Amino acid sequence: MDYKHAISVRYSCRSYLPQELPASAVERLKASIAEYNLLSGLHIQLIQNSDEAFGKLSKSYGMFSGVRHYLAMVGRSNGIHEKEKIGYYGEKLVLEATEYGLGTCWVAGTYNKEACVCQLEPREELYCVIAIGIPAPKTSFKDKLIKGMIRTKKKSLEELYEKHGPVPDWFLQGIETVQAAPSAMNKQPVKFSYKEAGPEALPTAHGWIISNKYGMEQIDLGIAKLHFEIGAADAEWEWED
Ligand SMILES: Cc1cc2nc3c(=O)[nH]c(=O)nc-3n(C[C@H](O)[C@H](O)[C@H](O)COP(=O)(O)O)c2cc1C
Repeated sequence: MDYKHAISVRYSCRSYLPQELPASAVERLKASIAEYNLLSGLHIQLIQNSDEAFGKLSKSYGMFSGVRHYLAMVGRSNGIHEKEKIGYYGEKLVLEATEYGLGTCWVAGTYNKEACVCQLEPREELYCVIAIGIPAPKTSFKDKLIKGMIRTKKKSLEELYEKHGPVPDWFLQGIETVQAAPSAMNKQPVKFSYKEAGPEALPTAHGWIISNKYGMEQIDLGIAKLHFEIGAADAEWEWED
């Protein structure tokens, strides 16, 4: 899977053709979902052919069209690092779907949560959804309008890490990949730092959130950490807790 390529072409797609998902993509996405649920304890579900959550009477305010399929991002209520895991594994699925030629969009606000048909076990919660489908041609007037409403300019690299001295190329490559990550309202509320290797220790990277106003920041952090790992994959380093 070429995750770097997926990052270079991904965008938040809000207009879809109301078509079935290709069977091969469904099969591969379902295999990944099963693997990630096992690894993480999350309960991510692929919901197909259900347009209630984004229908006319939903809270999508007409921002989305043609959404018939989505990933329901379900996890334990109050689970440790649950939101960060939602971000990390959800974005893995976003990038895989992108490589299968599908459009995606993380959605935490502009949909009808109550109308989602996902399965919730006791003490589980639906954190957000990820719309998924065949992208409609994307130069519609509506897309331009939405782009105008959401701050689309990404933060500079310097705003995304703490600079105490020189940083190696692998760290900068990680930060460049973080710069391209989706985040709620494009706030990019994350920062990273680098620590040199010790005599017997690998160099480390640390990532954290710089604000916690909207409740989505930990999801944004999980997404950003996955991007960092993909960008910095050529070097040997580890996360500092
Ligand atoms: C956790 C999360 C929640 C989001 N919620 C919404 C939403 O409710 N409605 C929406 O239109 N976009 C939503 N987005 C998409 C962001 O607006 C988008 O990622 C950001 O503007 C950057 O644009 P890009 O993804 O095209 O790079 C969300 C993104 C994330 C990561």
